[in-house]
Amino acid sequence: MTNFKITLSELDTPVKVLFTGYLTTVAIGYIFALIQILFTHGMADGKFGLSIDDIVYSYYGNRSGTVLEKKLTGSMKDKATEQENFKIMQWVRDGADEDEFTNLKIDKIIDKKCVMCHNEGASGIPDFTQYENIEEVTKEDEGATFSSLTRVSHIHLFGISFIFMFVGLIFSFSTTASSQYKSIAIGMPYAFLIVDILSWWLTKLHPMFASLIMIAGAGMGASFAFMWIISIKEMWFINNPWFCEPNSPCQRALKVISGFSLNSLAFIGGKLRREFFPKMFALIKDGFSWLYNKMK
Ligand code: HEC
Repeated sequence: MTNFKITLSELDTPVKVLFTGYLTTVAIGYIFALIQILFTHGMADGKFGLSIDDIVYSYYGNRSGTVLEKKLTGSMKDKATEQENFKIMQWVRDGADEDEFTNLKIDKIIDKKCVMCHNEGASGIPDFTQYENIEEVTKEDEGATFSSLTRVSHIHLFGISFIFMFVGLIFSFSTTASSQYKSIAIGMPYAFLIVDILSWWLTKLHPMFASLIMIAGAGMGASFAFMWIISIKEMWFINNPWFCEPNSPCQRALKVISGFSLNSLAFIGGKLRREFFPKMFALIKDGFSWLYNKMK
């Protein structure tokens, strides 16, 4: 048993089907996760598509104003007259005092212009017949709360590490890359996962860490794609006479396709190594010196 080695291409077909079923399902799950990110965080700055601003707004918040002010200059602009909007905003800027709320007759404006929609029967929008709900939208937008970050962090750490456990295990039976590169590819997603989660918390403290979230996410995606392509290729497209005869045009075409996809991944990897990593390390260094100064 000293030289016993499992290789993907020599696996029994039922095992290949099992592995392929798992890899396919997880890949579809990954695509849905990306779509979800696009819809939840992608819209945070009001524009479609994921940008650094979206990440800053989602985690750090938009500290330049309150939700109420943003809405009164945005989608709720035409609900009351300009003077009424101005009065509400003035009240928010002056500290949103509860007594002033009635003294300045802000309550009358809300009752007349907002409550027809913002009442207890409405779902998904705050009920403005309760003062607490108005108070809530006059607070500074501080992005993700610590409790939501804690919840999402542990779900991600447990869930995603499991996904990469199996993707990595399947990939570890591949023979395309050397042991050294295989080890890097298998370890990479875990490193990126930890950096990703850590940078959510850091971004909550300071927006400069937002790009770290992007880099970690991209790195995780790239290592996933790399292991996925290699594993599928070795299981089905190497020495597999019933799919493609050895040395047939079909086999050559597959070589070209997989060569092309691996080359593009190598290109992305090279870019990561040359451009992103130095930036990332500089950012981590800045971050820690900032944290250090804050704690001093
Ligand atoms: C015609 C119905 C309607 C009226 C009238 C209306 N709203 Fe809204 N409001 C909505 C809807 C729908 C949303 C959710 C979509 C959005 O955020 O644009 C919303 C969202 C909001 C939000 C964001 C809530 C959150 O938690 O994100 C605020 C703040 C708000 N409205 C304030 C007001 C104020 C102040 C008025 C009165 C001047 C008003 N609205 C009048 C329908 C209405």
